[in-house]
Amino acid sequence: MAKLEIKNLHVSVADKEILKGINLEINDNEIHALLGPNGNGKSTLLSTIMGQPKYIVTKGQILLDGQDVLKMSVDTRAKCGLFLALQYPPEIPGVINSDFLRSAVNSKLDKPISLYKFINELEQATKDVDLPLDMIHRYLNDGFSGGEKKRNEIIQMKLLKPHIAMLDEIDSGLDVDALQAVVKAINEVIERHGSALVVSHYARFYQMIKPTHVHVIVDGQILVSGNEEIIQKIDKEGFDWIKAEYGIDINKKELRPSSIGLCGVKESLKNVK
Ligand SMILES: Nc1ncnc2c1ncn2[C@@H]1O[C@H](COP(=O)(O)OP(=O)(O)OP(=O)(O)O)[C@@H](O)[C@H]1O
Ligand SMILES: [Mg+2]
Repeated sequence: MAKLEIKNLHVSVADKEILKGINLEINDNEIHALLGPNGNGKSTLLSTIMGQPKYIVTKGQILLDGQDVLKMSVDTRAKCGLFLALQYPPEIPGVINSDFLRSAVNSKLDKPISLYKFINELEQATKDVDLPLDMIHRYLNDGFSGGEKKRNEIIQMKLLKPHIAMLDEIDSGLDVDALQAVVKAINEVIERHGSALVVSHYARFYQMIKPTHVHVIVDGQILVSGNEEIIQKIDKEGFDWIKAEYGIDINKKELRPSSIGLCGVKESLKNVK
């Protein structure tokens, strides 16, 4: 069980301010959806929470059960139950997938997991996401297809059993069966009374995971928070209504369809002059 609090968070990368005062609270049993136009700070927020060093926090706080997350190393954050499935999982030739997973699992434990138990859990997780078993013996993500990389992120999540699962566009590149596996993995977190922070552009994916809270991030700020109705509105009208309501100019040059059915983007493009 864990409560994540983000207070007036300002973050810069390469001397450019990306996040401009984010406030967010995530409690147990909650699924938070984070939407927003491309390049407006969604991945920056998730990566900053996880501790990616290129993001510099210039102001504000991140607290996990009252503890200062910003003072924690990345591995301490993971040990405390934070997990991030990356938007672009890196390829790491030379590191065997199963060795990486076992080290990651062991680093969270006082006593190493028995090989028998680890193999059982790994085989089950691999089966759950429908990856061929031989992929766990290949180099980490090396030559994996886009969908295979995302499935591998879910294997990590299932083995590491986080309190707060952050998923950055996990759905991109996944087929319908794999999406169901993601939904199941999120539900497993919630069954353990954890929580999730999920970034996606797809209304259909959000229908599957049923977020309890919805936020829209624009120009580094959460401008709108509410329930699933916001997603339906974005699906129909894109992000223009936010611009109108808040007088913020969303950079439409970056609104491009990255795949068929990209809800908010697809509809928005109809209005691009
Ligand atoms: N090293 C860097 N130098 C300059 N700008 C950067 C750097 N890294 C990231 N940015 C910028 O930070 C901004 C926010 O990026 P971020 O990845 O958080 O967007 P996002 O909301 O996740 O977008 P998407 O929906 O496309 O994934 C972007 O404009 C990006 O170009
Ligand atoms: Mg992103």
